[in-house]
Amino acid sequence: MTKTNAQAQIELHKELAPRYAYRYGFEFSRLFQQDWHAEMISHVPPGATQVLDLGCGTGFFLAELERKHPGAVGLDISHDMLKVSDRYVPGARLVTADAERLPFAPGRFDAVFCKGSLHHTRDHVGFLENCREVLREDGVLVMSEPCNDNPLIRFARALLYKRSPHFDEGDQGFTRKGIVDLCERAGFEVTLVKKYGVLAYVFAGFPDHLGILKYVPGNALLTRLFIRIDRVVCALPGLSLLGFHVVIVGRPRSS
Ligand SMILES: C[S@@+](CC[C@H](N)C(=O)[O-])C[C@H]1O[C@@H](n2cnc3c(N)ncnc32)[C@H](O)[C@@H]1O
Repeated sequence: MTKTNAQAQIELHKELAPRYAYRYGFEFSRLFQQDWHAEMISHVPPGATQVLDLGCGTGFFLAELERKHPGAVGLDISHDMLKVSDRYVPGARLVTADAERLPFAPGRFDAVFCKGSLHHTRDHVGFLENCREVLREDGVLVMSEPCNDNPLIRFARALLYKRSPHFDEGDQGFTRKGIVDLCERAGFEVTLVKKYGVLAYVFAGFPDHLGILKYVPGNALLTRLFIRIDRVVCALPGLSLLGFHVVIVGRPRSS
């Protein structure tokens, strides 16, 4: 019998849960991830109290959300990933569920975050419609997803997703235009789109995939420098094609 995507993701992330602790286990990789988290959190309107991290995984981002918004909720399809979250974010409410069928009342949240979870699902518009449904009318969606505008990045990702046992072959990155279109079809007005992550993403973000920086003296300093360079590169229209992720902010369009 063929597996559903939900089953495939649960199995995949059972294997991956211990790797995430390793990924976030170095000062330089935490520096990068914290900068990424700060970028996403910066788009939450002041006064937001009810926040949801959709596809929170092992909870490192959720821990930062919880510090700023006590009582943050984390949802993930993988119970194994959430077991790690439980250790890192004891104050957060953790829910095991499928983002394609959210167990929350309409208008429950001021902000919904998705960091790298949309591309693991198959019904992208359905996923985003669910986000819209659980957001207040003046709520905000903040996402960061793999971006394949650059043909070289698209090729490298396709190869990685095909070859590595740590991805499902059906997982895919987006183009900037494609993800904006998905958000609009799901009823969002996109208020910000920006690229994120070049050098720091590649060298500091994923020591479980590319660990070279572990052996470089001063790697934390180097990561800070990479983060600064990336910020400049991602802000320049021609060079922003080099960005590995795209950060999208959307607000429910009034019907
Ligand atoms: C790449 S990980 C990102 C985890 C976390 N946001 C982070 O940045 O460390 C993607 C997460 O999405 C979860 N996921 C995949 N499909 C899902 C679904 N349909 N509903 C909820 N979570 C899902 C996976 O279990 C995994 O924890």
